[in-house]
Amino acid sequence: MRPRSASANGGHAASVDAFEELAAAFARELRPGDVVALEGPLGSGKTTFVAAVVRALGNSSHVTSPTFTFRHHYEGTPPVEHLDLFRLEDPAEAAQLGLEEAFGADRIVLVEWPERLPGLLPAHAIRLRIAGAGDGPREIAVTRPAGRGANG
Ligand SMILES: Nc1ncnc2c1ncn2[C@@H]1O[C@H](COP(=O)(O)OP(=O)(O)OP(=O)(O)O)[C@@H](O)[C@H]1O
Ligand SMILES: [Mg+2]
Repeated sequence: MRPRSASANGGHAASVDAFEELAAAFARELRPGDVVALEGPLGSGKTTFVAAVVRALGNSSHVTSPTFTFRHHYEGTPPVEHLDLFRLEDPAEAAQLGLEEAFGADRIVLVEWPERLPGLLPAHAIRLRIAGAGDGPREIAVTRPAGRGANG
């Protein structure tokens, strides 16, 4: 199988432009059914990352955080679901909202604050951790589950 490009495995981004380029390179390696757990502190760039992924997959919509609605859907090739669990109070709320219906083999799902409800994400989720804040540089670290390593 074709090796993933180096940037699809994360890297260093000194500017927003460089960060968005890394996100686009990462997006090009995603396949329908992939789930991405986006970790990183407040303001680290999770929503900025999702916006760049949505654009790279062919949708020019303005991406905003689904902080209060928990879930936004974007058409694209493939479609993208953007979840933000920051304000989730308890797991019952996720069930009421039907958040598990966001997942599917035909789409890519990106989840901000996945640590609020770890059980929602499948075991095969890709973990992507962003470090950095403010106008400073960012470091992106990608951890793929076993069997989905750097070569596929
Ligand atoms: N090198 C950089 N890479 C990425 N973002 C940067 C960089 N420098 C500055 N920024 C800015 O950092 C901010 C990141 O905000 P964003 O809403 O994406 O963070 P978030 O992780 O989604 O926050 P929250 O936890 O509140 O959801 C943006 O305003 C972005 O322009
Ligand atoms: Mg956000």
